[in-house]
Amino acid sequence: MHKFSRRTIFRTAFAFPFAGLLSAQSSEPGLRAYAAKKGLFFGGAAAWPVLRDDADYAKHFAEECNILVPENVLKMGPVHPEPERYNFEPADYMMEFCKKHDMQMRGHTLVWHSQGWPWLKTTVSATNARKYLEEHIRTVAGRYRGRMHSWDVVNEAIEVADGREDGLRKTAWLEFLGPEYLDIAFHAAAAADPQAKLTYNDYGLDYDTPGNEKKREAVLRLLRGLKDRKAPIHAFGMQAHLDWKAFQNFKAETLRRFFRDVASLGLEIYITELDVGDRDLPDDEAERDKGVAKVYEDYLTVALEEPAVKAVLTWGLTDRYTWLAGRNRRPSGAGVRVLPLDREYKRKPAWYAIARAFESRKA
Ligand code: G3I
Repeated sequence: MHKFSRRTIFRTAFAFPFAGLLSAQSSEPGLRAYAAKKGLFFGGAAAWPVLRDDADYAKHFAEECNILVPENVLKMGPVHPEPERYNFEPADYMMEFCKKHDMQMRGHTLVWHSQGWPWLKTTVSATNARKYLEEHIRTVAGRYRGRMHSWDVVNEAIEVADGREDGLRKTAWLEFLGPEYLDIAFHAAAAADPQAKLTYNDYGLDYDTPGNEKKREAVLRLLRGLKDRKAPIHAFGMQAHLDWKAFQNFKAETLRRFFRDVASLGLEIYITELDVGDRDLPDDEAERDKGVAKVYEDYLTVALEEPAVKAVLTWGLTDRYTWLAGRNRRPSGAGVRVLPLDREYKRKPAWYAIARAFESRKA
């Protein structure tokens, strides 16, 4: 378990007791203090080059987060744009930022079917795929050896609609190497960084619906298979991209049961990409904020009942920078309100909902 620095403990121990008394935003400790008080992590996905170029964004990241995950710069394509060229500048900057602000960093993601190598189709084949994949993982994970809290080694490998018995998504990696590509990736990551917690990350698992249930079964089968074959996997990443309207299908017991099943495999659980779509809420900001905050609180309060849950990261921190801006467009043109901070970095009801959820966690 990560040892918190003396500075963090001091900041938490002395700042925290006054938290309830202080309502003014600037003097209340960030969500990182609420998480750290329970020995947990709170953080978010950081955009590039925003973290470098927007001082306000950087300041609020440092204030609110004790863990950070790069939103895009460690994906296969961005970090390895040509067979012989890697681009580590953004991730190196983020790693330094984390060190400076007593934060951990998560790596996302070593193997994914999206935003892959632009040169994949022209250069990689079944005969050389393993060589390229192992070399990529060795180079990328090896660069941050001993400094990465965890890696999403494989992202979103399950797609039940692809019709396979094992539920695996039909990707180039499956085509080249068969289902074994997962084991290859985890073993390569462990060799490159024996300290990082190696994670399988996926989405669409949150609700009591037939589709989510099928996917939960396939994910559990994948995790059990890796464990049975002694693959070095340590954690499961629950992306938790939620939506206010879809949340009507949320049932606490379903999430509890799934997390119990994952934890029973000896895995930690990270909520890796939490956000709450607000498309079907009215334009009125107060009403929208209330509806979004309730989803954050209802989901996280249940999720944090599971002792194996060790980290919560939102996919972005402020409505100013979120992938949902493009997906949740509103007829009125009003901006989205899906994350803990608004566009001006003001703490919204969602922020307080997340704080209360951490408070509800049994120590
Ligand atoms: O960096 C290029 C830029 O040079 C170019 O000018 C521009 C226009 O084409 O594209 C830029 O790359 C974009 C990148 O985000 C960085 O902004 C890609 O086109 C765009 O596809 C990419 O979208 C990201 C998406 O994953 C696909 O990788 C989103 O920002 C990111 O939030 C989203 O995150 C994913 C997680 O990784 C996995 N789970 C789902 C989640 C949401 O889709």
